[in-house]
Amino acid sequence: MGDWEGVRLHVVTGKGGTGKTTVAAALALALAAGRRQVLLVEVEERQGLAQLFDVPPLPYEDRKLAVARGGGDVYGLAVDSREAMYEYLDMYYRLGRAGRALDRFGVVEFATTVAPGMRDVLLTGKTYEATRRQRPDGTPVYDAVVLDAPPTGRIVRFLSVNTAVRSLARIGPINRHAAAITALLCSPETAVHTVTLLEEMPVQETADTVADLQRAHIPAGAVVVNQVRRPHLGSRDLAAARRGPLDHESVGNGLRAAGMPASAGMVNELLEEAAAHAERVALETHQRAAVAALQRPTYELPQLPDGVDLAGLYELGDSLTAQGAA
Ligand SMILES: Nc1ncnc2c1ncn2[C@@H]1O[C@H](COP(=O)(O)OP(=O)(O)OP(=O)(O)O)[C@@H](O)[C@H]1O
Ligand SMILES: [Mg+2]
Repeated sequence: MGDWEGVRLHVVTGKGGTGKTTVAAALALALAAGRRQVLLVEVEERQGLAQLFDVPPLPYEDRKLAVARGGGDVYGLAVDSREAMYEYLDMYYRLGRAGRALDRFGVVEFATTVAPGMRDVLLTGKTYEATRRQRPDGTPVYDAVVLDAPPTGRIVRFLSVNTAVRSLARIGPINRHAAAITALLCSPETAVHTVTLLEEMPVQETADTVADLQRAHIPAGAVVVNQVRRPHLGSRDLAAARRGPLDHESVGNGLRAAGMPASAGMVNELLEEAAAHAERVALETHQRAAVAALQRPTYELPQLPDGVDLAGLYELGDSLTAQGAA
């Protein structure tokens, strides 16, 4: 049993470049373990999932991406706002393929690019549909949906867009659909996880996002501290390296004992590196305390030395499982 039993929609946000796509994929693998079916959805129209799983570009339909530990499946879906617009026109106006004809008048172009709010309506609508999709016998197609979501700066507006839709369309099917999406996003079936690094800006954005989500009545989930590096020095050496340079002679002796060249210049460079490293570790300790103060379930993921490949994703997924995330 993981920390998120009962959650059907996992939204993964974070400052740009912190590892949203990577963490969303690792979480999907963790959630799918033990014969579960999980859909990983991307909405940024960059084919990030195809790149990450090293498969051809994803079409606008679910494709199997990977098999999880114990036989579950992770599917991927790249939501394309243009295709989602055709679906939308068909759903509300019964336009069918005729919706595509609107392209000629620039309607679809306008709705998906010029009116950014409309784009978010389409993307959240498609995510909702995937979360609620059922088999003929009424059971859900997916045990969980993981959304590789927009970054922290845009996430609350993105998830709140249907509230605005309801104030524009006060009755009728568009209102009802927007109400259903809002109900899901504001329910315990949703959790918005934030990915951060142990650096000031992403941690600050994480704190702001957790507060903004609470104000919008959208459930904040975990904080995932990504790309954590282990300190190269023990705590006593780190403290000494912050107070002043480490001992030149003993570092030189250490190098020579290891059969390494130990010129004075080389030793000086190492001492500078040690001081910078100690400074960084101290800053990270400070940021870790700021994360703890948010009082959210928190998971740490290591920085993989060779970057993220499929084996690395499984490793990160296993780490999430071991920490209770799934
Ligand atoms: N735990 C990790 N160990 C090593 N490299 C990582 C780790 N997590 C992410 N990366 C690398 O960091 C980079 C950014 O990761 P990713 O693409 O997942 O971030 P993102 O938040 O989705 O970025 P964007 O904001 O551009 O969508 C990638 O090169 C990825 O391989
Ligand atoms: Mg990404």
